[in-house]
Amino acid sequence: MKERIISSIRPIYKEQSPKLYIETYGCQMNVNDSEIVAAIMQKAGYSITRDIGEANVVLINTCSVRDNAEQRVMGRIEQFGAEKKKRPSLNIGIIGCMAERLKERLLENRIVDLVAGPDAYRELPKLLETTASGQQGINVLLSRDETYSGISPVRLDKTGVSAYISIMRGCNNVCAFCVVPYTRGAERSRPPGTILDEVRELADNGYREITLLGQNVNSYRSEEMNFSRLLAAVARAASGMRVRFSTSHPKDMGVDVLETIAGYDNICNSIHLPVQSGSTAMLQKMNRKYTRDEYLQKIEKIREVIPDCSISTDIIAGFCGETLDDHRHTLSLMETAAFDAAFMFKYSERPNTRAARHFSDDVPENEKIRRLTEIIDLQSRLSLASHAKEYGQTVEVLVEDVSKRSENDLCGRTPQNKTVIFPKNHYRAGDLVKVKITEYTQATLKGETV
Ligand code: SAH
Ligand code: SF4
Ligand code: F3S
Repeated sequence: MKERIISSIRPIYKEQSPKLYIETYGCQMNVNDSEIVAAIMQKAGYSITRDIGEANVVLINTCSVRDNAEQRVMGRIEQFGAEKKKRPSLNIGIIGCMAERLKERLLENRIVDLVAGPDAYRELPKLLETTASGQQGINVLLSRDETYSGISPVRLDKTGVSAYISIMRGCNNVCAFCVVPYTRGAERSRPPGTILDEVRELADNGYREITLLGQNVNSYRSEEMNFSRLLAAVARAASGMRVRFSTSHPKDMGVDVLETIAGYDNICNSIHLPVQSGSTAMLQKMNRKYTRDEYLQKIEKIREVIPDCSISTDIIAGFCGETLDDHRHTLSLMETAAFDAAFMFKYSERPNTRAARHFSDDVPENEKIRRLTEIIDLQSRLSLASHAKEYGQTVEVLVEDVSKRSENDLCGRTPQNKTVIFPKNHYRAGDLVKVKITEYTQATLKGETV
């Protein structure tokens, strides 16, 4: 590892608490991880700043899931490099999934001082001591048991309404396209007692909604309970708060979970169930472990047990060997499932995944884009139809914030996870408000309070 001479750069540390700026990319779990990092760093004497200009340490919490996610961070590192030229004492750390994937390669550009993988955050203060003495620091060890239980995340979202709770880490599935098992390591579940403690702490602090997070929450397992029992226990501990969870893997989504959702008023009727493709051949190649028909049966079961449940999904266009026929199967599955919302991506080959090792990334880029556009256009129609059903209805909205578009409006979500915008009046973030829907687009609902 290269050593760098940054001489005596930290007199400021001795006089006042050093300031940390964190920037987060990627999924909800990364958002929650940044809050865990903030807690660890605060305990070590750092204060959190939103102003890069006054930061002594910048940590970029990164995502590797698609190439463009990595490219954005690479661009950002260059920008921080320019800042560091002006202020050589600035320490720059890369944490999260790119840190795990690229390891010491990230230190080669001489901008980055520190690299820490997703299981190494407790070591961050120590690593920063190394960098303070002018050396580069790295820890990318993955753990079998780290769940950061016992660390109370410092909530970086200041609205104080909705909070994430990670209930597990890592992933034991090997979906052929996916880098996550390599960047996050083996699956492990957090003990339920510490999860319930966190729920109660959030309730005491006035939070109104919690979202349980894991790459595959349905495979949650502790000595005491499986996911449906945990969900029920959380719903009881969170009475008065809304409960959500993400993500569910279709292969593990059992009727017990559906019955639990149906059995508790405060568990939101909304399920994110990534399908990835509507072609059984593609699903098999992706190693998803369910067929098109099995997926559609799950959808039917959801609609039977929870009739007003919204269902969202993830779709990948142009995976290895995807034919036009496979693609049409995806479109037809989308129509049949009538998804309320979807996150849609074109396939991006990730180094060292099963797909990268065994299959050829052979759908031409322009064809991937064409298929993705078709998928997005179809979902726009489906989302519009899903919103049309709300027209004239009165829905319950948990107010989250002021609308991005207008200061006179508030925005929040229905239990089905649909965004609603309505006039502010005397309402505030955290209120539960009844809103009659008077307008809609494929992206949002608009209405008047009743
Ligand atoms: N654990 C979650 C998904 C995590 S990644 C699950 O199993 O559903 C989020 C989404 O990114 C995936 O559902 C998939 O649609 C997409 N994705 C993952 N790897 C990708 C890749 N190599 N190219 C394009 N999209 C990808
Ligand atoms: Fe990736 Fe599959 Fe694990 Fe989801 S379940 S994180 S897509 S390997
Ligand atoms: Fe990205 Fe890592 Fe999440 S790769 S999607 S930040 S688990």
